[in-house]
Amino acid sequence: MRFISATRTSRTTQATRAIGALTSAAAVAVAVAVGSSCSSRPSDPTLARGQEVFEQNCAACHGDKGEGKNAPALIGITRTFPDVNAQIAVITNGRSTMPAWQGRLSAADIAAVAAYTRTL
Ligand code: HEC
Repeated sequence: MRFISATRTSRTTQATRAIGALTSAAAVAVAVAVGSSCSSRPSDPTLARGQEVFEQNCAACHGDKGEGKNAPALIGITRTFPDVNAQIAVITNGRSTMPAWQGRLSAADIAAVAAYTRTL
């Protein structure tokens, strides 16, 4: 009888441990899901589109986070362009070695990427 009860106890312990392991795995999965949804896209649809346009067209020169690479940093760009329309004009028409995006990006995408870079 003692043997059986010992076996039962150990099975219960194993089951408890298994549930514990599953619970921690679920907690990790939730944490990962929450973490990635925070860092992936801004919730505002215009800014989310702007980030997408930035990653596809601008990050190669301006850096993944606008920190600057072989082109100037865009972080703090609102100080250079207090007026967003002046910034949109540079993106649209280009300047020096900065390519013009007119004809390659829609006006809406240019406005979205300008808005996004103003959040960096
Ligand atoms: C081929 C490299 C390259 C790409 C791609 C590029 N840029 Fe630029 N960008 C530059 C360079 C170089 C300058 C500096 C131009 C100058 O000296 O007048 C610049 C300047 C700028 C400026 C003005 C910065 C300031 O401080 O005056 C803005 C705004 C800008 N880029 C936005 C963008 C956006 C938005 C995109 C994507 C749609 C983009 N750039 C893509 C190279 C690039």
